Amino acid sequence: MSECSRSFAGRVALVTGGQGVIGSALIAALRERGATAVCADGAGTADRRFADAQALATDAVRLDVTDRGAIAGLVERIGTLIGPVDLLVNVAGVVSFGSAEALAEAEWDRVIDINLKGSFLACQAVMPGMRRQGFGRIINIGSVVGKNAGNARPWIDPAEQERAGNVAYGVSKAGVHVMTGFLAKELAAHGITVNAIAPGPIATPMTTGFPAQLKALIPVGRMGAAADVVHAALFLASREAGFITGEVLDVNGGMLCD
Ligand SMILES: NC(=O)c1ccc[n+]([C@@H]2O[C@H](COP(=O)([O-])OP(=O)(O)OC[C@H]3O[C@@H](n4cnc5c(N)ncnc54)[C@H](O)[C@@H]3O)[C@@H](O)[C@H]2O)c1
Repeated sequence: MSECSRSFAGRVALVTGGQGVIGSALIAALRERGATAVCADGAGTADRRFADAQALATDAVRLDVTDRGAIAGLVERIGTLIGPVDLLVNVAGVVSFGSAEALAEAEWDRVIDINLKGSFLACQAVMPGMRRQGFGRIINIGSVVGKNAGNARPWIDPAEQERAGNVAYGVSKAGVHVMTGFLAKELAAHGITVNAIAPGPIATPMTTGFPAQLKALIPVGRMGAAADVVHAALFLASREAGFITGEVLDVNGGMLCD
C-alpha cells in the first residue's frame, strides 16, 4: 500500500468490522499513515478493558453495531481519551446466501440490522462531534450487489442461487447507498462528506462460494483485493476529497458500469 502516501497524521478514525479482511487492511493503512484508528468489531475484546488511549488505539474493541448505546458510548470514549472521531468507516457486515423463497424471517432481520441499521447508528453517533468540529468523513461500505440484484444466475445453474443468491444482503446494501445520499445532503453544509464504496467481489472468505464461472463477469480478469477497497477509502477519507459527497464509488473491475 505504500504507493499511496497521503498523510493522516492527527486524524481520528473509527472503523467498524475492523477485524475482517477489508477492515483490518484499512486500519493498517490508516495507522501506517499516522492516523489513530480505532478498530471495533463484533469479534473484538470486551469493552471494559479499554480504559486508556493506548489500548483503544491499538487493540480491537468488541462492538455490536446494532447496539445503539454501545456505539454512542464508544464514540464518546474515543472523544474523551483520544479526540473526536473525524473519520468513520462502516465496514461491519454479514452475508447470507440462498434462495429468497427459503430465507427465514430472522435471517432477513439479522442481515438488515447489521448491514443497514448498524451503519446508520454508527453514522448517527459520530454526527454531533463532526458537526462541532466542522469537519468529518463518513464512508459506508455498500456492494455491487446493492445495484445489480445479485450475481446468481439460477436460470443457467440452480446451484448458483444457493452459493451466490443473497436478497437480504443486496437490499441492505442498496439501503446503505440510499442512506449515504440522505446523510450527505444533511451534513454537507458542515464540512462533513458522506460517501459509499460499492465493491465487486473481493477475494475474502465472504466470496469463497462464489461460482468460478461468475469470475468471468469481471472485465479486469481478477477478483478484487482488500487493497482495492482500501485505496478508494483513503481517497474519500482525505481532506482533498471535500467536494465529493453522496457518491457511491464502484470498485468492481468493470463488472457493473452505471
Ligand atoms: N468480500 C467481498 O467480496 C465484499 C464485496 C462487497 C462488499 N463487501 C462488504 O465489505 C465489508 C467487509 O467485508 P469483508 O470481506 O472484509 O468481510 P469480513 O467477514 O472479513 O468482515 C466483516 C467484519 O464485520 C464484523 N461484524 C459482523 N457483524 C458485526 C456486528 N454486528 N457488529 C460489529 N462487527 C460485526 C465481523 O466480525 C467481521 O470482522 C462488508 O460490509 C461486506 O458486506 C465485501
